[in-house]
Amino acid sequence: MNKANSSQERMEKMLSLTKRRGFVFPSSEIYGGFAAVYDYGHYGALLKNNIRDAWLKHMVQLRDDVVGLDSAIFMHPTTWKASGHIDSFDDPQIDCRVCNTRMRADHILESFGISADKATLEFINEELDKLRAEKKLKCTNCGSTDITPAKRFSLMVKSNLGSPTDALSEENVVYLRPETCGGIYLEYKNTLDSTRMKLPFGIAQVGKAFRNEIVARQFIFRTREFEQMEMQYFLHPSEMDQKFNEWKQTRWNWYLDYGIPEEKIHWYKHEKLAHYASDAYDIEYNYSILGGFKEVEGIHARGNWDLSQHSKFSGVDLTYFDEKRGEKFIPHIMETSTGLGRQFLMFLDNAFVEEELEGGDVRTVLKLDKRLSPIKAAIFPLLKNRPELVEKAQSVYKDLRESFMCEFDDNGNVGKRYRRQDEIGTPYCITIDFETLENDTVTVRDRDTMKQERMNISDLKTFILTNIN
Ligand code: GAP
Repeated sequence: MNKANSSQERMEKMLSLTKRRGFVFPSSEIYGGFAAVYDYGHYGALLKNNIRDAWLKHMVQLRDDVVGLDSAIFMHPTTWKASGHIDSFDDPQIDCRVCNTRMRADHILESFGISADKATLEFINEELDKLRAEKKLKCTNCGSTDITPAKRFSLMVKSNLGSPTDALSEENVVYLRPETCGGIYLEYKNTLDSTRMKLPFGIAQVGKAFRNEIVARQFIFRTREFEQMEMQYFLHPSEMDQKFNEWKQTRWNWYLDYGIPEEKIHWYKHEKLAHYASDAYDIEYNYSILGGFKEVEGIHARGNWDLSQHSKFSGVDLTYFDEKRGEKFIPHIMETSTGLGRQFLMFLDNAFVEEELEGGDVRTVLKLDKRLSPIKAAIFPLLKNRPELVEKAQSVYKDLRESFMCEFDDNGNVGKRYRRQDEIGTPYCITIDFETLENDTVTVRDRDTMKQERMNISDLKTFILTNIN
């Protein structure tokens, strides 16, 4: 039975577990913290890297039509002029005049059932005025009704490069990329010229992105520094519908393949689109800790806007000559874009279970897909004070860790060690006992069933590798 019920209760438990077991720490805690930025500890970094590697495997390794890229965070500032980010990558901000709490006006309107997705500032302020007149517009922190009108707040994070003396000059302003796909567009031509790719093909990359989010209070769901896993697929416009649908299915299957139940995800279709886009869907996951469905991934048909703009601003010809069609055109793009932190939170949320055991004890277990688990096997000597058991356990541990992530634990009794490994989602616990010394067999305990089976040490590696891949 899963005991943690309300979203707040689950969030508190999750926060406590992720901090206590070293998955996620608030950034700069010794200086009092730094809002909406987080660090990933040992198990968190391992889990995050496993999700990233699984994504890269599916998006690049297992495909003939997608190649990889790792582009720089800093790019020529004109990149963001061309993409429209400098002029219009912003959110509508309102402030409480009493306690200075900042709020997103579109989120406030949405809480009243008014859709403000991509709405103009004029529309937003008209709707806010109606709420204000009815005394319904209140600060989310102190409840005051003294709220400013909405204004545009740029999400772009500025930095500077160059010598310290001219650091403050406007020409030196560079931006930390707000999305990783900018680098993909800039390397589209080099990729085409340096690989044997022909349209349709994709470029995928994982990397950091930065946004000056107005409100970022939902743990790692919305942060100011985060990682994106994005794939831009370049194609002829006539292929858009077919490829868009294929990629929608491919991405949907990713969630099912990694253990997300179908009833916990759904599609959200964007009704209002950017002027260049023809279709946009989000996959939303029902985050129990956030109290409902929220975006985890976007799939967008972007027309030829991106390459046209970069061609125009750079003066470089980005047209593609299609030999089969005998046609020259600027490729159209469809993208799949997901946040690594949001995937991480989704997998944790889905895996976090509290089970009541016979006798009334409760065990906390992360039922992660085994391919994603930070530690694949934990190796225990039955007793800490018996050197022959410890030595044998060490030798099994040192052998297995050559092939996958393992942990050695001789602290406390075996029951407590099982609990510790359950909490971090370790699929297998291997105990070296006195029988091991006689016949080279060990017990292997399965995280989910809690059943133990005896196995030859010589079979362990193959058994675990088969189950974690
Ligand atoms: N290139 C398209 C793009 O960036 P987006 O909908 O703004 O589209 C894509 O972002 C994905 O990036 C989202 O679905 C989400 O998973 C993730 N993401 C966006 N902003 C984020 C933030 N502040 N914190 C964490 N993840 C974020």
